[in-house]
Amino acid sequence: NSLKLKRIFKPQNNTKILTIVMDGVGYTNPNTNLTAELAKNHGILPSEAFSIGNAVNAAYTPNLNRLISSSLFRTIKAHGTSVGLPSDDDMGNSEVGHNALGAGRVFAQGAKLVNSAIESGNLFSGNAWKEVVARTELKDGTQTLHLCGLFSDGNVHSHIDHLFALIIGAKKEGIKKVRLHLLLDGRDVGPLTATDYIDKLENFLGTMNSNEFSCLVASGGGRTFVTMDRYESDWSIVERGYKAHVLGEARFFKSIREAVEILRSEKNYYDQDLPPFVLENNGKPIATVEDGDSFIFFNFRGDRAIEITRALTEEKFSAFPRKRFPKVHYAGMMQYDGDLKLPEIFLVTPPAIDQTMTELLCNAGVKQFACSETQKYGHVTYFWNGNRSGKFNADLENYVEITSDQIPFQERPWMKSAEIADETIKQMQNNSFEIGRINFANGDMVGHSGDFAAAVLSVAAVDLALGRIMNAAKETNTILIVTADHGNADEMFEVDKKTKKVVFDKNGLPKVKTSHTLAPVPLAIYNTEILERNIELREDLANGGLSNIAATVLELAGFESPSFYDPSLISFSEKKK
Ligand code: 3PG
Ligand code: CO
Repeated sequence: NSLKLKRIFKPQNNTKILTIVMDGVGYTNPNTNLTAELAKNHGILPSEAFSIGNAVNAAYTPNLNRLISSSLFRTIKAHGTSVGLPSDDDMGNSEVGHNALGAGRVFAQGAKLVNSAIESGNLFSGNAWKEVVARTELKDGTQTLHLCGLFSDGNVHSHIDHLFALIIGAKKEGIKKVRLHLLLDGRDVGPLTATDYIDKLENFLGTMNSNEFSCLVASGGGRTFVTMDRYESDWSIVERGYKAHVLGEARFFKSIREAVEILRSEKNYYDQDLPPFVLENNGKPIATVEDGDSFIFFNFRGDRAIEITRALTEEKFSAFPRKRFPKVHYAGMMQYDGDLKLPEIFLVTPPAIDQTMTELLCNAGVKQFACSETQKYGHVTYFWNGNRSGKFNADLENYVEITSDQIPFQERPWMKSAEIADETIKQMQNNSFEIGRINFANGDMVGHSGDFAAAVLSVAAVDLALGRIMNAAKETNTILIVTADHGNADEMFEVDKKTKKVVFDKNGLPKVKTSHTLAPVPLAIYNTEILERNIELREDLANGGLSNIAATVLELAGFESPSFYDPSLISFSEKKK
């Protein structure tokens, strides 16, 4: 029973509204937190100090600057409670950002829902827990409970406290053997922080392990190289994980600490890139996954959980040779795909994101367009549509994926920005859609590498593509809404929370930051002159955020925005003739 949208006016023929998400391009004012003296000592000219670590400010962005200086520009919130995260200390991320963009309002998100399910105890009294964990074979020690997921407190895909809660729950249940398969983060947290979490885990397990209960790490690897691929960008990532976690096939080490330290030192790796490892005891893996075992993937976010879930649950599977396919009792922390019902068993019910803009527009018969490169393709489709991989109406939804390269993106910071612009401009010229959205991955994907110089280029590449689309917008009657889902490239060096100054390492170099930021994001509306009414930004929505964009899009297209959506950021007035 989705709402029937009411159309108040129909813009002139072939008017299109296109939302452009510059992923990871947060907007912070030029930051002056580096004193001139410090800057000089570190070989940085005072003038450059303004953009220290801020690749968005440092990049040459004439087109973005043009938008920033227009009257239809403001910043909006993209982190913390404004996107449904537990607190305002939580940086934004693409899942919650695109959910808010596509659904026009804010839902309590995975991080928050899992916290409450643990606090209330509902997680441990639910059917999924009973089916997967409260099993006699686990209590008499004949079978093993495996817990696999991202090992940090990043709160983007997972949280270490959730892992600890599951271990405590398993012990309470009387389970004998728990084995952990841990993916090292360094991407939602500092690039070299794995050992901090290992310290925490060791302390924790010290209080848990006994004659009756054994919880040990069995395998792992860096998250970008092992297990956590997304949108089928590169199945070999998942295959490496499957081999390590399930088959016990990867380089052997005695402990996770030893694995991390040795592997880091061999190639100067950041944690996220570490190769897979298996922990051994007397020359044999500490654990492999066997028929009848239970397996919980404890990430709550779906994009990077879907492929490993499929590898562990699908009878028919051809993405890579599994060699052995143990029949396990599998549960996800959440259901990762609402259309595919993947996985069937999940510990916490995901947010019920309904009546998304796509659905309402399909109902109203509006043609839509979405495009990005592989790395972010699911962001403008699956996340945008409330974590659903399907379509509401295939005749009205035209989704184009540009295949991403399989390389470290700091080596090609322009990524597929030119190709995305080509495709989008073509669709604009063909008038093939009325409402569209695209995503440029650069600021985020390159931002995550921690490479400042590359991040500067990545933002410049987005600006170049933006300029081309702005020109095409004039020729094709397209109104642009230019924004971002969260910050990343705007802060490439670690900034001390208290002093707000860049942190330097022992060699006097700025400490690299790979994760997202708390920054607000830009919001610019371009080419509204084509409408028969004047558009202004409302002044009473100082706390406006990503969830206000859907209503803004709908109103620009002449629809009345639904009362249950967050309000539009604009107001209309009659044009003086
Ligand atoms: C990732 O999955 O790459 C990061 O954890 C989050 O990045 P995203 O939210 O921008 O996808
Ligand atoms: Co990101």
